[in-house]
Amino acid sequence: MPMNLEVIILAAGQGKRMYSSLPKVLHSLAGEPMVTRVVNAALQLAPQRIHVVVGHQADIVQEALSELPVHCVLQQAQLGTGHAVREALSYVNPGSLVLVLSADVPLIQPELLTKLVETVSSDVSLSLLVAHLDNPTGLGRIVRDEGVICKIVEEKDASEEEKKIKEIYTGICCATQEALARWLPKLSNENAQKEYYLTDIVHLAVEEKISIASLEVDEPLTVQGVNNLLQLQELERIFQHRVASVLMLQGVRIADASRLDIRGNLSCGRDVFIDVNAVFIGDVQLEEGVHIEPNCFLKNAVVKKNSVIRANSVLEGCVIGEDSEIGPFARLRAGTVLAARCKIGNFVETKKAHFDENSKANHLSYLGDVKIGKNVNIGAGTITCNYDGARKHQTTIEDGAFIGSDTQLVAPVVIGKNATIGAGSTIRKSVPAGELTLTVSQQKTIPGWQRPKKDENA
Ligand code: UD1
Ligand code: CA
Repeated sequence: MPMNLEVIILAAGQGKRMYSSLPKVLHSLAGEPMVTRVVNAALQLAPQRIHVVVGHQADIVQEALSELPVHCVLQQAQLGTGHAVREALSYVNPGSLVLVLSADVPLIQPELLTKLVETVSSDVSLSLLVAHLDNPTGLGRIVRDEGVICKIVEEKDASEEEKKIKEIYTGICCATQEALARWLPKLSNENAQKEYYLTDIVHLAVEEKISIASLEVDEPLTVQGVNNLLQLQELERIFQHRVASVLMLQGVRIADASRLDIRGNLSCGRDVFIDVNAVFIGDVQLEEGVHIEPNCFLKNAVVKKNSVIRANSVLEGCVIGEDSEIGPFARLRAGTVLAARCKIGNFVETKKAHFDENSKANHLSYLGDVKIGKNVNIGAGTITCNYDGARKHQTTIEDGAFIGSDTQLVAPVVIGKNATIGAGSTIRKSVPAGELTLTVSQQKTIPGWQRPKKDENA
């Protein structure tokens, strides 16, 4: 068996059946584009090189791959999978083993690919990854004669008899560079789709009396291709259910696994409870005893021990200290860091807000670019006016301060330790520690004033 492995990933197709302006291979499964999932699986095999064949909207597919160690090959016109492999093969070192993957098979497992690669030997220059499906509609069927593979027939070219075959080609195969170089130029496009089918190499191998190996997948899901948004959704749900199952078996209580989405990595401590309709994106960590109420969205967040995220809260790029309570209806934006026992209540928005222990903003506030000490109480309707139209400014509220309701803190401003701000104040200058500060506008009563009345005859 040749030592050098190179991978070709087919990603040039438009994916007509998706009816989308986004190229098919950039559609995401669990938050990650299908094509990068396949590249990451291939990388696990440590191949010499990975060639990704791009074509339809090549620039944006290439852009999505820019961080990955792959070589992109442009297939100008999408003339079929056989043509796509041929375009890439000219970059493959002679004597290599070539693993062909489809970018639209997003859950492919590296272990399975390693097994497939191992089935190619000096006697076997082609090996196919196959599966038995209850519903094989739309897929290439493996046609055997007394158990020996003789061809793959595409659905559109299949006879009624062939359509009954339940053994299908997964779109994944492994062959020697040498054999591919011989076969690919011989492909013809005389078929129902007028395409150069890669699958026709099987019949060419048979003509050369070369034995073809096949590896049967016992879990068809991992080789399921995505051709339309229904299949993508089905695969997503199955994948999500698996992720949730792992968590549940580790002791996480999930109200309904079908109403949970994890698009990244969610790690949970013991006795975590996740109620319905939670979405977790990126890296999210829920420590022991955390409780997530319905309809929460958490992206790149850490929630420490025993904290509760109440219904309808949105948290992004933040750290919540232990025994804290967030929401309902709170929005915590990037750079929000809370120490232990803090409370952020309904309709409070925070951004780059640091709260020390035991501080609270219970209702209706905007707190941005602010450093808040311990035991601070922020009254309802408090706003940090952090933006002057050009620059952002910092607000500092020291330990024990009490900010009365409906206060505007015009940054930069410092509220001293244990200071009290009277309700309805507009604070433009720093405030001394320990004193009551307020801005006063006089209260007036206008005697005899009448409310305007609607004209009855109008
Ligand atoms: C292909 C197989 C079929 C198999 C199925 C498994 C062929 C002819 N058929 O069919 O036997 O059962 O996969 O999912 O190979 N692509 C290019 N350039 C092209 C055409 C396609 O790069 O010119 C890429 C597509 O982007 C896609 C992959 O190749 O990632 C497969 O193409 P697709 O059109 O989805 O093939 P299927 O009809 O699914
Ligand atoms: Ca496909």
